[in-house]
Amino acid sequence: MFNPMLSVSKELPEKYLKMSTEELENHIQSIKDELGDRLFMPTHHYQKDEVVQFADITGDSLELARICKENTAAEYFVFNGVHFMAETADILTDDSQDIYLPDLSAGCSMADMANITQALHGYDVLTKEYNLDILPLTYVNSTAAIKKFVGEHGGSCVTSGNAKSVVDWALKQGKVILFLPDQHLGRNTAYDLGIPLEQMAVWDPIAKELVYEGKVEDLRIVLWKGHCSVHEKFHKAHIDLARERDPEINVIVHPECEFEVVQAADYAGSTRYIIETIKNAPKGSRWLIGTEMNLVNRLKATYTDIQIDSLNPLMCSCLTMNRIDLPHLAWCLDKILDGNRDNIIKVDAETTKYAKESLDRMLSIT
Ligand code: 13P
Ligand code: SF4
Repeated sequence: MFNPMLSVSKELPEKYLKMSTEELENHIQSIKDELGDRLFMPTHHYQKDEVVQFADITGDSLELARICKENTAAEYFVFNGVHFMAETADILTDDSQDIYLPDLSAGCSMADMANITQALHGYDVLTKEYNLDILPLTYVNSTAAIKKFVGEHGGSCVTSGNAKSVVDWALKQGKVILFLPDQHLGRNTAYDLGIPLEQMAVWDPIAKELVYEGKVEDLRIVLWKGHCSVHEKFHKAHIDLARERDPEINVIVHPECEFEVVQAADYAGSTRYIIETIKNAPKGSRWLIGTEMNLVNRLKATYTDIQIDSLNPLMCSCLTMNRIDLPHLAWCLDKILDGNRDNIIKVDAETTKYAKESLDRMLSIT
């Protein structure tokens, strides 16, 4: 039966929209069976259930990066996630392995907040005008070009699962950190490591200015003015209101949330940390979670002996993560069988060389 809830992409051939959920699922499963170990489907925790059911492995950004690097056998990776994750997988895998992204429009608004021209300009101003000895770090939620820039300058990638170890490593290098592109993960992590807010500045790539009131010689970290458009929807007022209604409520959030939210929450950590905490929560306990909605709903459906809700009752899913659905997955798998290479994400050799340095540095630190 035709399902009107399926997302419609302009280019998606009509035949996939006309297939019922059952037909799509059978089609996907039969191609998976046919390709066997030649195909590998890493899938981020923020993906829809309809996609997660076909995952060979689910994980957060750090786990998926590691798993892709370790899998030297698969010929085709279908990456159920967003563009920067597929790029990371391509950088970490062998040249002969192809990484497919089922919908090429599955980007990340945070990664788009730092382009390479802006990064080079910011670096220039900070090093030449402010005379700062800069060590760049980038959240993996960034383009391959940004990862290359970071690798070329001796820096490292970080993910929410290892941010503390990587920022700690960077602080010990005695330089001023430039943390791209998520100001919140950078601020939350540096504060956790004992850096006061007064020693943090913000680089605004649009206004092209450094926002900082202290003395330049006291500066420890420059935060790129970027954020996640999903996690910015959680506010301290949500926590205050929830605690007024239920003083015993537990609040757990992702460190992409703003500083005030992370400070007010009981727990903060990567998607893996959130999943583990909920898994180990005492029966009957009550939780509000500040992260992407597909994951919150999955946790709610899995752990029925505890009470789980979104910290923001009006929250919706990450729109770009949600672009991957059954029709796009079926279409992508058909392309693999047909030898159609449209959905392959390939990072050029020069970018790969240095971007890999920043990823390998991260993997060796953690
Ligand atoms: P992690 O997978 O590192 O928790 O990051 C969440 C996220 O926003 C991915 O886009
Ligand atoms: Fe990007 Fe935020 Fe979506 Fe993750 S949840 S893909 S950071 S917009």
